[in-house]
Amino acid sequence: MHGINKVAIIGSGQMGGGIAQISAVNGFETVIYDLNSDALTRCEGFHNKLFARGVEKGRMSDDDVAGAKAKLNYANDINAIYDADIVIEAVIEDVDLKKKIFAGIADKFTDNQILATNTSSISITDLATSVGDAADRFIGMHFFNPVPVMKLVEVINGLATSEETTKRTIALSEAMGKVAVPANDRAGFVSNRVLMPMINEAFYAWMEGVAEPEHIDEIMKLGMAHPMGPLRLADFIGLDTCVHIMDVMAEGLNNDRYRACPLLKQLVVAGRLGNKAGRGVFDYSK
Ligand SMILES: NC(=O)c1ccc[n+]([C@@H]2O[C@H](COP(=O)([O-])OP(=O)(O)OC[C@H]3O[C@@H](n4cnc5c(N)ncnc54)[C@H](O)[C@@H]3O)[C@@H](O)[C@H]2O)c1
Repeated sequence: MHGINKVAIIGSGQMGGGIAQISAVNGFETVIYDLNSDALTRCEGFHNKLFARGVEKGRMSDDDVAGAKAKLNYANDINAIYDADIVIEAVIEDVDLKKKIFAGIADKFTDNQILATNTSSISITDLATSVGDAADRFIGMHFFNPVPVMKLVEVINGLATSEETTKRTIALSEAMGKVAVPANDRAGFVSNRVLMPMINEAFYAWMEGVAEPEHIDEIMKLGMAHPMGPLRLADFIGLDTCVHIMDVMAEGLNNDRYRACPLLKQLVVAGRLGNKAGRGVFDYSK
């Protein structure tokens, strides 16, 4: 069993906010910490909106909402996280920042507490070097976006992760209503190792004039039963994030076949980052 009562999350962005939501809804005492108080306010507003919609659609009762809200705490002070049984880090995908955060908290998490990261591509073994002796309690817990909807948690062991840490993390994921699937610690894990080259190849197909972007997406949707074409999915993920993950895989797997397509990189240079920028492959400004 997981033996977890309290869950702490670092970073109240789209992933951290989603993880906090499912944690509280599934009955865990939950604290979400961010150093940016505006981000915390936005996160709380987002939760309230989702809870209201849950009631409207009949998915949640008023009591469910009150119960979840009572479990959710928004903290601008990092001291609020130290008594949690697990901390799940979900700040931006920056290896140095993540290491700095873990190095700063590791000596407060000594009591059989788990240190988990939601990184989508960075080596778990590498991040674990920042926590010293706690490396056996360090693990990758890779949720998918949007967290309340997507069923998968990819659970990634670092070289030193103990079997007990893995078992507890899998049990916690299941208690949060997810399906936990293990993967080994290679750049991109399984999800991005398979997904990102497909997205990258769609950019090559576009660049080489094999088909127009709409047609590439339509072919993959109708022909492969994908709910979304690879180019629209790239816009949803963020084109900068796609390039970043390809770079991590090219370096980590030491193979140039993971280099990002020049057209994908060019769109990023032009600021066409996808949905979040209003324009990527497709135009979202209207
Ligand atoms: N977005 C996705 O589709 C997705 C999917 C799976 C995994 N991930 C991974 O999840 C992580 C978070 O991604 P996101 O999309 O939620 O990012 P985001 O930019 O939406 O949120 C990041 C949050 O971290 C906060 N933050 C930054 N530095 C901090 C610090 N020192 N202490 C506390 N909080 C800090 C920011 O204020 C912000 O609220 C990344 O590692 C990303 O790779 C993202």
